[in-house]
Amino acid sequence: MRPAPPADPFQLGVASGDPLPDGFVLWTRLAPRPLEPDGHGGMPRVPYTVRYEVAEDAAFRKVVKRGQAVAAPELAHSVHAEVHGLRPGREYFYRFRAGTEISPAGRTRTAPDPRARVADFRFATASCAAWYHGHFTAYEHMAREYLDLVLFLGDYIYEYGITSANMWRQGVPLPGPEHAVETTTLEQYRLRYSLFKTDPNLQAAHAAAPWVFTTDDHEVQNNYADDWSETGIAPGDFLRRRAVAYRAFYENLPLRRASLPQGPGIAVYQRRHWGRLAQLDILDNRQFRDRYPAGAVVDNSPERLDPRRSILGEAQERWLYEGLRRSSATWNLHASGVVMAQIDRTTGPGESYSNDMWDGFPANRDRLFAAWRRHGIANPVVFSGDIHRGVAAELKADWADPASATVGTELVCSSIGSDGDGAETDGSAPVWLGNPHVKLYNARRGYLSCRLTPAALTSEFRTVARISTPGAPLATAARFVTEAGRPGLNREA
Ligand SMILES: [Fe+2]
Repeated sequence: MRPAPPADPFQLGVASGDPLPDGFVLWTRLAPRPLEPDGHGGMPRVPYTVRYEVAEDAAFRKVVKRGQAVAAPELAHSVHAEVHGLRPGREYFYRFRAGTEISPAGRTRTAPDPRARVADFRFATASCAAWYHGHFTAYEHMAREYLDLVLFLGDYIYEYGITSANMWRQGVPLPGPEHAVETTTLEQYRLRYSLFKTDPNLQAAHAAAPWVFTTDDHEVQNNYADDWSETGIAPGDFLRRRAVAYRAFYENLPLRRASLPQGPGIAVYQRRHWGRLAQLDILDNRQFRDRYPAGAVVDNSPERLDPRRSILGEAQERWLYEGLRRSSATWNLHASGVVMAQIDRTTGPGESYSNDMWDGFPANRDRLFAAWRRHGIANPVVFSGDIHRGVAAELKADWADPASATVGTELVCSSIGSDGDGAETDGSAPVWLGNPHVKLYNARRGYLSCRLTPAALTSEFRTVARISTPGAPLATAARFVTEAGRPGLNREA
């Protein structure tokens, strides 16, 4: 018989993830004092039993599953309970119990049967949640949408030290000096997740729908590429840092045990289906990418064009093209941490490109488009984040020729927090809109809300006018429709 945990252990909320037709993974983490500097959330260093129940109704009258899991100190007292044996394509509710303490309840759902003809799939995409840059008002609104899935596209945390210089979240005290340094150790990454996850709006967004994840750079360090660090850390040391960063990532998110990091690597790329309607290929743009030819940020060196360059790495490329070849889905969705469309950064004559995005790996992008073409891929749509701006772009057969075929569609969600209040437009708008295939540039904070049917994808760019203070209302900055069989963007509003 294990002891009861300290009082009030569910302060980081609950979450669910990775919905399959027969179940999902349920997450919580016991942390009665989440901001204890050692990263252990105020928990004694012993394991505890956590029970969970899954019900068909929000009042938990019809409980269909009960189970238990161990919250162990080695994994920061996190729980990752994989639930199976449920019915496809329906809503469920869940909660945890530890001793006599009961967690808040969460709502989640299973994916449809793989053979189901799904009429309607509602999901949101989000990225870049710098807690210190503002309130999570965008998460607050996202939690109120009735979503089947949230697709998180990277930068769930940021590794930078939090000081008075970057703490723009008004009305909240500056976190202590233990938060003022860049995260490098397991304790520091754990503490960083604890800080971000104390936010009630983030907790509400997790409790409202299941999430799936890809990562970008800031879960580890800005602009990292495989074992390369921009601060010149020796590759062996950097991989050790990557290992603890991804361990804390696993501990704090609703991920299956298959995602528990093995050494410096975490399993990110994976394929999911939403009935016959959609195949979702979640891509890993960081762990296997080639090093930058020159600067990580902007460059136009000839090395950029090396046909061997890959942002996915050879094994992931093979896996992706093979999966596309076998796809029979109406829509083929790709989740990418970074922007795929070519974006020339030089307005007027001359050209330059960001090496940190797919532009640093044009040969890989060409191989992907060739796979779409070769396998007759129906309706490819790329969802990305990273740039803290809402962008909609058409993916072109020939970037230099605006009249060339549109081969796919890209929808880039803005940031939840990163870069603070933002504005409808900003100084980078002429650069982005100078690329004729870019159809929207919006510099406010927000997320993307999508409705997918067999006939069309409707995408709405949701924005909030400020995040320095809480309570900004939700707006829809733009709405696009992409019709099945006709890649590209039709602006409706
Ligand atoms: Fe970011």
